[in-house]
Amino acid sequence: MARALNAVKSSGDLKQDFPALHRPVNGRAVAYLDSAASAQKSQYVIDAMSRVMTEHYANVHRGVYTFSSETTIAFENARQKVARFLNAKTDKEIVFTRNTTEAINLVAACLGQSLKAGDEIILTELEHHANIVPWYFLKEQKGVVLKIVPLKLDRSLDMAAFERLLGPKTKLVAVTQMSNALGTVVPVAEIAAKAHAVGAKVLVDGSQAVVHLDVDVQGIGCDFYAFTGHKLYGPSGVGVLYGRYDVLNALPPYQGGGEMIEQVTFDKITFKEPPYRFEAGTPAIVEVIGLGAAIDYLNGIDKAAVRAHEQKLLQEAEKRLAAIAGVTVYSTAPERAAILSFMIDKVHPHDVATVFDQLGIAVRAGHHCAQPLMKALGVAATVRASFALYNTMDDVERLAEGVHKVKKLFQ
Ligand code: ALA
Repeated sequence: MARALNAVKSSGDLKQDFPALHRPVNGRAVAYLDSAASAQKSQYVIDAMSRVMTEHYANVHRGVYTFSSETTIAFENARQKVARFLNAKTDKEIVFTRNTTEAINLVAACLGQSLKAGDEIILTELEHHANIVPWYFLKEQKGVVLKIVPLKLDRSLDMAAFERLLGPKTKLVAVTQMSNALGTVVPVAEIAAKAHAVGAKVLVDGSQAVVHLDVDVQGIGCDFYAFTGHKLYGPSGVGVLYGRYDVLNALPPYQGGGEMIEQVTFDKITFKEPPYRFEAGTPAIVEVIGLGAAIDYLNGIDKAAVRAHEQKLLQEAEKRLAAIAGVTVYSTAPERAAILSFMIDKVHPHDVATVFDQLGIAVRAGHHCAQPLMKALGVAATVRASFALYNTMDDVERLAEGVHKVKKLFQ
């Protein structure tokens, strides 16, 4: 049986809900500082997923028997939970995908059919490869022109440059709401308003933002919003594409197969309305329900306290690292959250991460799937510590200890 949400209402003591965080790594309880790559799962989510499989698992939308109708109800409830979580107008605006990457590829493939040579798509230097490569395909296939908003010296987005790039040929602005590599928070509502003023559509990559900010797709005014389950304390294998209903409804199908059709003959096929038009084949049933449980979990805790807690951890980590000579911090934009990218002089980030692992500290080292951003920063890679609702001041302490240890070993 799933445990009911426990009485925890404030942050900092949520670690107890995440069983993997109690496992010792190399002799110490893990200091998990890589939630930006993938977050840990609460017992609540684990139990909800296990319950589907132990109590009523069946395919969805296809059976009239009890197991199938129970699973279908749980599946569609998850769609409603996502819609409410994002403040979408209706759950018909919520398409389940495999992840953010597939959500963005879906838009590129479907919206891309109406684009022609010379049409322009605006991206930014902050983007993850998932929000670059699908648009590069359109550049190669259709001659679409990609225009890139640069960063300012403080590593926030150059909004004046963005406005200069906008024009009558702009068909789409595809932008992250929060950089996965730096934590920079982007003013997406302002971007959406300006893009709409020239008739462009707006896609927001919310992979990180959905975890650390309060997201309101109607407030942002975007046409599309993409995120993934595994960073939101849910399972991998499920992602979400929000699309404003009229915009989604104007798109042709993505993949062809079962469940996305109305009628099939060998001569003519008609398609369902959104969201089902974009959900061909058996979906990630257990994972979708697990994502719904992750949202229930988040709705059961005090979000404002979590936001404040994550900011406190970030600020303390910044303060601790700033006090260590030979550490360069790249997460410097005035608006930033939960992510700290840095380098230790003369030590390769992979070596830092390897020493950290020996101390039971998990961080990501590398280009963070953001090579154009690394180029703009003038580095090949950084070390990235990312904070989540279950991290504690002790984890920050461990991070600082780890940096000192690396310096002692290498310098
Ligand atoms: N996109 C994930 C990261 O930022 C994997 O690490």
